[in-house]
Amino acid sequence: MHFYHKEVLDWHFFNTFAQNIKNDSKMSINIEKIREDFPILKKEIYGKPLVYMDNAATTQKPLCVVEKISENYLNHNANIHRGVHFLSQEATEAHEAARETVRKFINAKYAREIIFTRGTTEAINLVVSSFCRSQCKDGDEVIITQMEHHSNIVPWQLQQQDRDIRLKVIPFDADGVLQVDQLDQLITGKTKFISVTHVSNALGTVNPVREIIRKAHAHGIPVLVDGAQSVPHMPIDVQELDADFYVFSGHKIYGPTGIGVLYGKEAWLDKLPPYQGGGEMIKKVTFEKTTFNELPFKFEAGTPDYIGSTALAAALNYVSQIGMANIAEHEQQLVRYAKEKLSGIEHIRFIGNAKERSGLISFLVGDIHPYDLGSILDKLGIAVRTGHHCAEPVMTAFGIEGTVRASFGLYNTEEEIDTLVAGVERAAKMFGRR
Ligand code: ALA
Repeated sequence: MHFYHKEVLDWHFFNTFAQNIKNDSKMSINIEKIREDFPILKKEIYGKPLVYMDNAATTQKPLCVVEKISENYLNHNANIHRGVHFLSQEATEAHEAARETVRKFINAKYAREIIFTRGTTEAINLVVSSFCRSQCKDGDEVIITQMEHHSNIVPWQLQQQDRDIRLKVIPFDADGVLQVDQLDQLITGKTKFISVTHVSNALGTVNPVREIIRKAHAHGIPVLVDGAQSVPHMPIDVQELDADFYVFSGHKIYGPTGIGVLYGKEAWLDKLPPYQGGGEMIKKVTFEKTTFNELPFKFEAGTPDYIGSTALAAALNYVSQIGMANIAEHEQQLVRYAKEKLSGIEHIRFIGNAKERSGLISFLVGDIHPYDLGSILDKLGIAVRTGHHCAEPVMTAFGIEGTVRASFGLYNTEEEIDTLVAGVERAAKMFGRR
């Protein structure tokens, strides 16, 4: 049974730990003060206060991140790793300091194991492409889960155009809980790679990735963890997880768009060939042959997003000051509260009922189309996502087209959830359907 997986036990332990932190009033988070840091939250939409609950798609940005971007462009802008001049050196140092901030945040062993990418999607594409080109042959198998985002399905399918790789899928049950016990049957002598999401963006399920990694490593199989929906919501320690690759996006953790992170164990990154060719990723270029630069530069062709990296570091410093355990506890409380309040609505159906879940809720009300429900909520100033959430196989498994998804961030409040619940009730009455 999945309940006995170490990861899940750790999650219980972590919740208890977080609860203790909350009980210590000195350490619990001050939401009012935090909301002051996010000017956009004061905005009115159609004359109603904005209730922003689309954090799984992207988070709002604190002033310190926005100011970091403008401060960089106004005072510190120059291309990095190339110039001898003062501004270039200064920008280079800031970029490498940002890499160290990321290393510390996810507790990687070395800063050279941190590769800046455009986001989770590019990081997965990099690993899939470099891994398949160098390590896979016809007949090899890759295991993913039934709850993957399209960005952890399609890159593998693109590789299938060049080699005969078979995709195998760990299914989930009616509650949206991954059937990890099936992994033992799915792994064969041909399994080359396992790629799993830590938290489902459509269901909120927290997967027991450490258990999956332990099983995979017993067979010598590397594992990539898609951390896009986990890193903003809980403390992450990649060494403790023992993940071979861990990827995430800056914009989902209060940082800017266009910057993300690929963490890879040094041994793997050394083994994999470059993903893109260009400036900075080379040691020596002639028309006959090129030798590649060392880590991390081998994987960072072209001008790196040094403005994005430093702004991401500002975001990570911001959440670190609040404390990831405190953020996790706050969001857990919001989910518990939302689940309880929404449960009172007639004909509501939750899509995903895992016990171990992160800060989002997917639901439907009677036969009201999710777009209709989302549109009514929008008119009330409430921002939620509707649709398949780029996880169509999840919707197919439930026999639905999509859901309404409310996803929480560190600045959301119980009062906002009351507004959401009132909005859903109002929509349900307007449509008057069951
Ligand atoms: N993957 C993002 C989401 O779940 C965009 O909304």
